[in-house]
This record gives sequence, structure tokens and C-alpha cells, in this order.
Amino acid sequence: MVVAIFDSGFGGLSLLNEAKKELKECDFIYFADNDNAPYGIKSIDEIRALSIDAVEFLRPMADIIVIACNTATSAAISDLRQKFSIPIIGMEPAVKLGQSEDGNILVIATPATIKGAKLNELLKRSNLSDKTYLLPMPKLVEFAQNMEFDSPSVKRYIAEQIAQINATNISLLVLGCTHFNYFKDSFAALMPNCKIVDGINGTIKQIKRKLDELENGKNLDKNLIYYSSKKQKDINLITPFLSRLDEMRKI
Ligand code: DGL
Repeated sequence: MVVAIFDSGFGGLSLLNEAKKELKECDFIYFADNDNAPYGIKSIDEIRALSIDAVEFLRPMADIIVIACNTATSAAISDLRQKFSIPIIGMEPAVKLGQSEDGNILVIATPATIKGAKLNELLKRSNLSDKTYLLPMPKLVEFAQNMEFDSPSVKRYIAEQIAQINATNISLLVLGCTHFNYFKDSFAALMPNCKIVDGINGTIKQIKRKLDELENGKNLDKNLIYYSSKKQKDINLITPFLSRLDEMRKI
């Protein structure tokens, strides 16, 4: 089976990295739309159009497509499912994990995800609106794309943004953007008593469920990486991203 994973850039590698370990029988295509990143500061219409293009490109090569981007999921998942018959799995901030928390929840994501109707409906449906703070952190996407993971500027930006919400009693930090997985050490240092969660495990469970429903699949000679629609053979370029993610996964 070929699983295609799509993100605006390098954030979705956090999902690919774990999926490769858990779904050993699958082949993977990773699509980083670097030419058009970041998505999170674009309009919903722009994000939707870019997501449609990406799925259109990936569809002939894959058995299942995973939108490893909370922003594209928020803006486009319904349109994508309406338009294409290939199974498509999206990613949403894992706020439901906050239902068992006594303290408050902080969701950090891109501006488009924070403003999006999808997250706000999810919070209402889960009865979590009253205890959830929402904070956009768009600059982190840029830092991650530039492989700047723990510089003084990164640490200063994170500290300033978190300080400005003036929140009390936060016990759960939800990483609502796949790019934010690169900065877990900074979040943990700033909020030492807070649990940090992301949507990776939940999404992998969904991929497994979907794969079980499919009978025959495609395969590849090797895993491929595309930067927008241009094929790249140099997999070494992503090694620093994957090593950083392995380190952050231990936190
Ligand atoms: N990684 C994406 C997400 O999960 C979005 C990053 C961007 O702004 O492009 O939302």
C-alpha cells in the first residue's frame, strides 16, 4: 500500500517519521509544498486551492492520502472528500485529550486553524470552549522551514507569545500544527508542569483502520519525497529534520 502524506512543508515529517515505524509494510510518498509555505497566513480559498492541487498530484500514485497539516484539514477536508474518491485522512488539534484534564487547555496553531470554524465547532461539541485558550504562533512555521529549532530568537518568540495570553492553570498544551513538534523542548522548558500532546498517534490509528478496509494496493521501489511537484532524490536534506523529531518525540 502506498500512503501519501501531504503538508505545506516539513511539519508533516513528524507524522511520516512515526508512520514509517508503525506501518512497516507500507511505502510512503511525502509531499512538502515548500514553494507555497506557509499556508497558515493565507486565505481559506488559497489554502483550499493549494490542497486540491496537492491531492490531484498525489492521487494517481497513492492508495490513501493523509493531510498532515491541521491548516489544510481545517480549510479543505470537506471539499477534498467531496471532490476525490481516494480515502483522505485529515489532522485536527487533539483537544479531546483535554476532556480528562482538570486544568485548562492551551491550543497553539496557525492563524488559519485558530480562526477556522472547524476547531471552534470541535471545542463546542466537546464542551471545552470555556476552558481552552487559543494562540496563533505563525512564526514557528518559518523557523521550522529554515531548520532553526532552538536559537535564542526561537526561544524568545515562544516565551513572548505564551506570556501574552496571561493564562492560568494550564495543564495541557495541544500542538495544533505539525510544524510545532520541532519545538517541544522549548515548550517543555517554559511549561514544565504541562502535558504536551499532538495528533500523531490518533492519526496513525485512523490510517491503520482505513488500510484494513482496503484490499489491494500499489507499491513503490523506495519512499519518495516531493518538494511541491518537483521530485527530489536527495533524501539527505531531510535527515536533520528527522533526527530533530526523534529527539523531540522523547519529551
Ligand atoms: N504544518 C501545518 C499545520 O499543521 C501548517 C503550517 C503552515 O502555516 O504552512 O497546520
